[in-house]
Amino acid sequence: MTEPEGWRLDCIGCGSTAGSELPDSACAKCGDLLEVRMIREVDSQSLFGGKGPGVWRFAEALPFPAGVAPVSLGEGGTPLTRASRFDPGLNFDLYVKNDGQNPTGSFKDRGMTVGVTRAKTLGARALVCASTGNTAASLAAYAAKAGVDALVVVPKGGVASGKLGQAFAYGARVFGVDGNFDLALSTVLDLVRKDSRLYLLNSVNPFRIEGQKLTAFEIFEQLPGVPDYIVLPVGNAGNISAIWKGFKELQSFGVTRSAPVMVGVQAEGAAPLAQAFSTGNPLEPWREPSTVASAIRIGNPVSWKKALRAVAESGGRVVTVGDGDILRARKELASKEGLLVEAASAAPLAALKKLNLPAGARVVCVATGSGLKDMADNPGEQRIEPVTDAESISKAIR
Ligand code: F0G
Repeated sequence: MTEPEGWRLDCIGCGSTAGSELPDSACAKCGDLLEVRMIREVDSQSLFGGKGPGVWRFAEALPFPAGVAPVSLGEGGTPLTRASRFDPGLNFDLYVKNDGQNPTGSFKDRGMTVGVTRAKTLGARALVCASTGNTAASLAAYAAKAGVDALVVVPKGGVASGKLGQAFAYGARVFGVDGNFDLALSTVLDLVRKDSRLYLLNSVNPFRIEGQKLTAFEIFEQLPGVPDYIVLPVGNAGNISAIWKGFKELQSFGVTRSAPVMVGVQAEGAAPLAQAFSTGNPLEPWREPSTVASAIRIGNPVSWKKALRAVAESGGRVVTVGDGDILRARKELASKEGLLVEAASAAPLAALKKLNLPAGARVVCVATGSGLKDMADNPGEQRIEPVTDAESISKAIR
């Protein structure tokens, strides 16, 4: 396949630019993951020049020819909020990048708009992904907008009902495996090898990563500048790789010389990347990952090499937090800052204390998904208080 000028697809394993074995998802030579390399000159002035918000304002930094028609729902351009009430004991400046405000309620939309636009240019008949929920919801929405079929494969019983409801509402066909996300992903990888009409939109797809890298561009503009730390949840390990790629591109475009330290956070019961980081060994898959944070209940993160590279290059680390701390952090963020995130997205906030970050640092936690999709731990009905008289309401003032 001849690609347009200005970028190419490189293999992260053997370095070849031989092309894809699977459409956009595996090196034809060695089967490892592919990565977009931007080789066109991008001018920092025009990159940040006064264009509207969102992913496509950075089209110059995306692997498409000028004038491509995006499949877009208005993704990106989410708020970066200073969170000073979350924990007044912290001696650094905490910011939350609220990616739950994307069109389907998670950061996946950033990558999906780019991935589905790519699928359109290739003439894909149907789009497919494995998912713990958010990717499924996002794929389903963008497939609807593009007018192509969406097939999603999920772990049966392992997806928050709000996310499942979205996938159905947007018109996807939903299939369940008797097992976890890792089985769902190996199933779709097998499927796309057998049926060339399908285009795969998990984060093995380098075009997804291209959209997600722009989180870095937005943070740079909103803060403004490069934060000292980025702290984010890690599941399949695509987003940590993507955001690091974004900061490296800002360097290569001559926008800045600085880079943040990347800190990945996993749940204690689903922490194969944290284990690989601390042992220095290649990733050993966990067969039965378990955590309340269903979005990151993943035992065999496919982008582990990219993620470990991002962490090593940035001088970062991968740490773990317990489920109890995750749920506490989620509650604190909602009740102190007015930001309701899902459990996975609270993991970075739960990790802050144990990270011992330096005083005065600027720290950005990426809140990857909205809490509205997953209210299972918030049994609202049971907590409604009876009204006896008007006074019983007044007494509630703290
Ligand atoms: N946060 C949320 C809310 C997620 O949904 C995911 C992944 C992650 C963090 C982890 O990101 O995989 O790039 O390391 N969700 C995927 C899905 C697996 O199917 O929706 P990652």
